[in-house]
Amino acid sequence: MANILLLHGPNLSQLGSRDPEQYGTATLDDVVAAARAAAEAEGAELTHLQTEHEGELVSRIHDARTDGTDIVIVNAGAWSHYSYAIRDALELLTIPKVEVHLSNITAREPFRHTSVLTAVCDGAILGFGIDGYPLAVRAGLNLHDGVST
Ligand code: DQA
Repeated sequence: MANILLLHGPNLSQLGSRDPEQYGTATLDDVVAAARAAAEAEGAELTHLQTEHEGELVSRIHDARTDGTDIVIVNAGAWSHYSYAIRDALELLTIPKVEVHLSNITAREPFRHTSVLTAVCDGAILGFGIDGYPLAVRAGLNLHDGVST
């Protein structure tokens, strides 16, 4: 059974009431439930962490190197745009890594156009709101199982 680790960065705890034009009305619990349902439908298990603290996210990524995590799905929020610490931690992980953003970051303010994480992930899913999470689960499992799409 594949173990999927879903990671969320700052302010994503506020989903549901945070800028619904960009992020929709789903809460973080809804997002995690959608990802977990997709994982469980494929016989996989999903663990989740959301944190407002960058070091906690870095440490959790380090732990994923040895705790049996098979796939990481990460929406690091604003850290995506400038955290070389999270980038370097992800780079150390040799398992499939899928980046997700609820909004299409390339169509927003210029500071959001670049994610420093994308280059150390296998790919990124942008702009599909909550629907991006089941897609990310699918993409991560296909990479894990060596299925080409
Ligand atoms: C986000 C996009 C980021 O620019 C923003 O800071 C977030 C959410 C997204 O999911 O669209 O917190 O990662």
